[in-house]
Amino acid sequence: MENPLNALGYQVLNASLREQAASPEDISKFSRRGFLLVAASLSSCTAATPLAQVPKTAAAVKTTANPGYRTPSVQGSARRNPDMTLDSDFSKNSGITFTRVPVAGKFIAITFDDGPHPQNTPRLLDMLRARNIKATFYVIGRSVDLYPQVVRRTVAEGHEMGNHSQTHRLLSKLGDEALRQEMSRCREAIARAAGVQPRTMRPPYGGLLQRQRELIHAEFGYPTILWSCDPLDWKRPGPSVVSSRILAGTSAGGIVLAHDLHSQTVDAMPAALDGLLSRGFKFVTVSQLIAMKSAAPTAQAAVTPS
Ligand code: NI
Repeated sequence: MENPLNALGYQVLNASLREQAASPEDISKFSRRGFLLVAASLSSCTAATPLAQVPKTAAAVKTTANPGYRTPSVQGSARRNPDMTLDSDFSKNSGITFTRVPVAGKFIAITFDDGPHPQNTPRLLDMLRARNIKATFYVIGRSVDLYPQVVRRTVAEGHEMGNHSQTHRLLSKLGDEALRQEMSRCREAIARAAGVQPRTMRPPYGGLLQRQRELIHAEFGYPTILWSCDPLDWKRPGPSVVSSRILAGTSAGGIVLAHDLHSQTVDAMPAALDGLLSRGFKFVTVSQLIAMKSAAPTAQAAVTPS
């Protein structure tokens, strides 16, 4: 059966986890580089929060170094997001910046920034898969280069990839050429890892000048995606606080910001996702949300930094 991504003009490289394994030497190299990056403080969107030390062989996806990993089967009768066939091709005229999208119906998009992370992202993917939820991942290019197998699994399971820059710098401080480099290097990292192109971007810390948003929209075709609900999960207030903030702050057309870099955020997801599903929300990707945009005016820009 033809992969639907091929129909979109993308070359899908080794989408099967069985085929994508890197060599043990590569895994070891990635892990060493990962540790160096940790030491250099790979931060969350807002705070300089170093990653916990990444064990050398701990990739929680199937690789030659970890051949025993199996995606857990769904247990019990978890509440599931409905199956939906929705267009994800949005018009370039849809808008340059989105904090939410005016839509008819209780559609929302949940987004995860600053990954991929070798343990937390696969754990999150298991939770999303059990609930038939497709999310949007704003990944950092240099982490994509470290953990391409995690990105391949993310794409293979139907999630959307977004561009969160190559090195997570404050883009509003950069000149145009450095800005282009941050966008194009992350785009290329995603394409190398999983054979797909991001359709939207989110600026690290939410910091991007209007002029820069227009440049990126014109040259890369990306709208700038901010958010309507920020649970401040990067401050690690505890899973129950994160989930209750998400439940309190989400409304139709909303874009929820979270970070799969942090284990507490992933811990908060079962309660947050199940709570949103039980309230009748239907999860779509950011591109699907924009594609269903109705005629109502776009909301005001977010004021909280990412
Ligand atoms: Ni970020």
